[in-house]
Amino acid sequence: MSVEPDPRVVAGLDVWESLPVGQQPQWPDASEVRRVRDRLAGLPPLVFAGEADALRAQLAAASRGDAFVLQGGDCAETFAEATADNIRNKIKTILQMAVVLTYGASLPVVKMGRMAGQYAKPRSSDVETRDGVTLPAFRGDIINGFEFTPEARTPDPDRLLEAYHTSASTLNLIRAFTTGGFASLLRVHEWNRGFTANPAYSRYEQLAAEIDRAIRFMSACGADVDALRAVDFYSAHEGLLLDYERPLTRIDSRTGLPYDCSAHFLWIGERTRQLDSAHVDFFSRVQNPLGVKLGPTTTGDDAIALMDRLNPTGEAGRLTFVTRMGAGKVRDLLPALVEKVTADGRPVTWVCDPMHGNGITSASGYKTRRFSDVMDEVAGFFEVHRALGTVPGGLHVELTGDDVTEVLGGTEEIDDEGLARRYETLVDPRLNHQQSLEMAFQVVELLRRA
Ligand code: PEP
Ligand code: CO
Repeated sequence: MSVEPDPRVVAGLDVWESLPVGQQPQWPDASEVRRVRDRLAGLPPLVFAGEADALRAQLAAASRGDAFVLQGGDCAETFAEATADNIRNKIKTILQMAVVLTYGASLPVVKMGRMAGQYAKPRSSDVETRDGVTLPAFRGDIINGFEFTPEARTPDPDRLLEAYHTSASTLNLIRAFTTGGFASLLRVHEWNRGFTANPAYSRYEQLAAEIDRAIRFMSACGADVDALRAVDFYSAHEGLLLDYERPLTRIDSRTGLPYDCSAHFLWIGERTRQLDSAHVDFFSRVQNPLGVKLGPTTTGDDAIALMDRLNPTGEAGRLTFVTRMGAGKVRDLLPALVEKVTADGRPVTWVCDPMHGNGITSASGYKTRRFSDVMDEVAGFFEVHRALGTVPGGLHVELTGDDVTEVLGGTEEIDDEGLARRYETLVDPRLNHQQSLEMAFQVVELLRRA
């Protein structure tokens, strides 16, 4: 039996159109956008309501300390990089981190990619000027091209369709890789053994050997380790471009309620989380689990007001606060926020984004971050929650599965000069494969020091 939606619920999905909306492109032709939106509205959903519900339950477990969340992927996905190799390497990296964290935290790890839809970017300026020429800023592949020409930088609504189809093929690979045996526990562990066998990372070898023994112990006890061949892997992106999110929002026939079927998890960015904004209004009306990024200017009252808008009844798993304070500020600013939210009583899942508060420009002019700052913010996040008796629920990181050189530091020390070797990101710098695995091993070291 399908449940008919309440017409007021359906009408509510368009209220955002009359509200202040930040970070949207200036489309040259509104009728073209309308045509593309109608087309998107007729295409199949990319994810299913029941999957979003399952994720919400796992995030509820993370809010209680019964699971740990790992969200990772590019700052901005691109169409050109949605290749089988890139997608596989990213999944591999996240799964490798997850095995280490599962062991270290003795908790199930909820795995989410900033993948299959992370195409729209907020920018600090609407325009970019180079050598006296001013053009629209690059807002992500779903809107315009990176190349600095008037043709590429003009927003093109057909890119929404390309984003949809590229997301569909990315998700298809994710589903194949995570259910077809490629991701079995034994294989992922073998990859980690390969990593720690590199003399540069011998510091982590003991931990890898412990995981080895744990797996052999499970087998000896009769657990069918080989049966651990399928993992749940969810998609997530910033819910930024509402001309894309609205037509992919569908009524769930089981409940008559709307779900944004572009991804399992959507988050509202630091720049678009104003209480009266189109973004907060729109996402308050869909059933998906939601995130909100909270930067260093966030007050406790802001956080409570966001809970009032996005999770008034206090449903566990509905709302994740992704804090991104910066390594130098997290120990000062996070406690008051967490205390205020905790006193309110409605549950949230606390996740640390140690990337976006730690940006610097290198002497050579690259936008970068220091691995040591990233790890310091993670350490601060754990310290604050430990001191308050609250739950550090997970990590949100920008990473890639390849050997790029975008973040300074790590054991294979990338220095200022080294950045130029393979700096490929179009927006923010990402941890490379090795730095990502180091992060996971170092998080386990932090957990043990507790
Ligand atoms: C991002 O996650 O890439 C981003 C833009 O983050 P924030 O909204 O926290 O600045
Ligand atoms: Co980013």
